[in-house]
Amino acid sequence: MFTAVEMAPRDPILGLNEQYNADTNPNKVNLGVGVYFDDNGKLPLLQCVQAAEKTMMATPTARGYLPIDGIVAYDAAVKSLVFGADSEPVTSGRVATVQGIGGTGGLKIGADFLKRLSPNATVLISDPSWENHRALFTNAGFKVDTYAYYDAEKRGVNFEGMLASLNAAAAGTVVVLHACCHNPTGYDITAAQWDQVVAVVKAKNLTAFLDMAYQGFGHGIAEDGAVIQKFVDAGLCFFVSTSFSKSFSLYGERVGALSVLCADKEECSRVLSQLKIVIRTNYSNPPIHGGAVVAAVLNNPELRALWEKELGEMRVRIKAMRQKLVDGLKAAGVKQDMSFITTQIGMFSYSGLSKDQMVRLRSEFGVYGTDTGRMCVAALNSKNIDYVCQAIAKVM
Ligand code: LMR
Repeated sequence: MFTAVEMAPRDPILGLNEQYNADTNPNKVNLGVGVYFDDNGKLPLLQCVQAAEKTMMATPTARGYLPIDGIVAYDAAVKSLVFGADSEPVTSGRVATVQGIGGTGGLKIGADFLKRLSPNATVLISDPSWENHRALFTNAGFKVDTYAYYDAEKRGVNFEGMLASLNAAAAGTVVVLHACCHNPTGYDITAAQWDQVVAVVKAKNLTAFLDMAYQGFGHGIAEDGAVIQKFVDAGLCFFVSTSFSKSFSLYGERVGALSVLCADKEECSRVLSQLKIVIRTNYSNPPIHGGAVVAAVLNNPELRALWEKELGEMRVRIKAMRQKLVDGLKAAGVKQDMSFITTQIGMFSYSGLSKDQMVRLRSEFGVYGTDTGRMCVAALNSKNIDYVCQAIAKVM
């Protein structure tokens, strides 16, 4: 029955974890997947999460099915975080938010809904983009193309190219935009450039799908989410996927969401009803624990403040590691100016290293990054930084 089944390639990101786990090199360092580790190389369990769980465990509850669209208090908290608690979209009831299985789940619910709505639309992702964007939208049945984004020579965004690509897109094209902390490059567009993107999305009648997986890792929670208001102000209806994997260090709980801004409350209830069908026919309804923890933190002022503090500490530590990486590479003998690493933001650095160099880093030094040259600077620490710098210097 399965004789014709071909071996699929390893996942370009999560597949590296498998290789890393099997590597016996005692000095190995995993800079592949986008996961934050503290200075001791440990995955943090946030204090705010522990406090919420302690309260929850004090009064254990039975585990019935959740509603298809998830925990009511969770969906409300996501809406408030993304759009603002007192914002017009929230108070007028025109945001449809559903709990998702991580940010990927939010994207997939949106993709499946869009496929029913606009079956012939093309999806545009940035060049380059998160590896899974292309796969996810392709598997949802879309033709996936790219818009210009990264300028390797300039080490920044090819904004003219980006605008030209968007201007050339047919009406109804779905444009996947990274709300902040662009994955994989670490280069975001400026607020003024966002204004221009919003204007093109509106003028050309494109559908914006904002992927917000790293809110709080760039400049701050509000700063990183500011782009949402620009789309609201332009009077657009759009999609936002949210992930709490990184910002709550709850990777394995798969806590995310999809929000769809609709024209009015009545339209919103129709959209929500369709999102629920997508969910019901995929996995029925979401799991409880992660969503309950995030809701407990976001809806409690003290825990929320603690979360903001802890997230801020992660952001600051990543920035410090960027500087240490630049300094360490110089000390290791790299002649090239690597200061671009400190102008990138978020968890990643697009190093500019070739596939061959990345393969050498893995095989000779046990330093894992993606073949595209992406490295997760959030996994660097004071103990592994020198080793990583020496290894990079040797392959450069
Ligand atoms: C990444 O880009 O490494 C993360 O978003 C994890 C993933 O699922 O790929």
